[in-house]
Amino acid sequence: MAQIFPRWANKTPLFGLAGAAVAALVVPGAIWYWFSPEFTDVGYRPIQPVEYSHALHAGDLGLDCRFCHHTVEKTASASVPATEVCMACHQVVKRDSPLVAPLMKSWNDGTPIEWVRVHDLPEYAYFDHSVHIAAGVGCSSCHGRIDQMVVVQQDQPLSMGWCLECHRDPDKHIRRPDEVTDMGWEPAPDQAEYVQAVRESRGLAPPQTCTACHH
Ligand code: HEC
Ligand code: HEC
Ligand code: HEC
Ligand code: HEC
Ligand code: HEC
Repeated sequence: MAQIFPRWANKTPLFGLAGAAVAALVVPGAIWYWFSPEFTDVGYRPIQPVEYSHALHAGDLGLDCRFCHHTVEKTASASVPATEVCMACHQVVKRDSPLVAPLMKSWNDGTPIEWVRVHDLPEYAYFDHSVHIAAGVGCSSCHGRIDQMVVVQQDQPLSMGWCLECHRDPDKHIRRPDEVTDMGWEPAPDQAEYVQAVRESRGLAPPQTCTACHH
């Protein structure tokens, strides 16, 4: 795992003259690099142990995201569903399909499926789903059109610059509570008035201070 400050920071006398000179040269470069949209994993799409398709289940079948990612409104993690959730249907649906076989095996053995993580922030960055959903930020603002993906891939950079871009100006991303899992959502003509009402009723304060995201 990378660390918040590069290792040389420990050894450099940052408050000394030499340190100040080094910092003057290096820090702007580093900040430029960290803030740059190039510093991303957009398009990362690992192969999963089961050929599970969001395009089929969330798209065609129209299952709500929270049917499977049911902690997303309550906790920091959205979590990936246990085999039981799939078996609600697959004990009957396609139970003899070779594509469903790994699911059957997991169910019979009691061994969880080892899904490969797609989105993964470094340890030193703190992120909480429930806060964002409660503020009306919807899944597609950060994950793209998951309902059209056969295999999930990373849609947005998840870089610090990307987080801050929305934190500085979140207004075009704030939805009504019942729209957070609406994948085709676009701001309505009354968006500005709606956000103003949200600010007055519950407040909206995306942090830009370092310690909010780096505890
Ligand atoms: C039937 C269950 C189910 C439904 C419904 C569902 N998902 Fe998923 N989701 C999964 C499973 C299983 C995985 C892990 C495998 C994978 O990445 O495809 C996953 C993975 C993901 C990931 C990537 C997780 C990671 O590792 O970073 C995102 C993002 C995601 N889902 C978002 C959504 C959104 C948004 C919706 C609603 C449009 C949705 N899901 C609907 C089961 C579901
Ligand atoms: C609400 C019911 C439901 C749930 C829950 C559900 N599925 Fe499905 N699944 C279906 C249906 C319906 C099909 C399509 C069957 C068809 O093609 O006729 C399907 C198809 C599939 C297929 C392709 C099978 C084939 O032979 O084409 C796989 C693999 C699969 N699901 C995995 C999963 C996994 C993994 C989960 C849990 C994360 C899950 N499903 C949850 C209903 C469900
Ligand atoms: C403000 C941006 C944002 C929104 C909104 C958002 N996510 Fe995420 N999601 C992320 C980030 C960032 C990660 C990686 C978190 C980490 O590594 O700690 C992530 C990870 C995930 C994961 C992987 C498991 C986990 O919790 O780390 C799933 C599944 C997921 N999101 C589903 C959803 C669903 C479903 C919604 C909508 C109900 C949603 N997300 C809304 C940014 C967002
Ligand atoms: C699309 C807009 C958007 C994106 C992208 C986004 N946020 Fe936020 N974030 C918000 C809003 C809006 C709030 C304010 C919530 C409130 O005031 O209730 C917020 C609040 C927070 C908070 C303060 C609440 C808490 O959980 O302590 C943290 C920390 C945070 N975001 C971290 C992140 C990180 C880390 C990322 C990038 C991985 C990120 N956010 C990306 C919109 C966004
Ligand atoms: C809204 C959340 C947020 C805020 C506020 C924030 N950061 Fe970050 N920061 C992140 C995320 C997320 C990453 C990880 C980006 C990645 O994985 O590409 C990160 C990465 C970094 C890194 C790169 C670490 C490395 O080893 O590459 C440094 C240094 C850093 N932040 C310092 C700061 C400082 C200093 C501030 C205050 C001026 C700050 N951050 C404010 C979210 C935030």
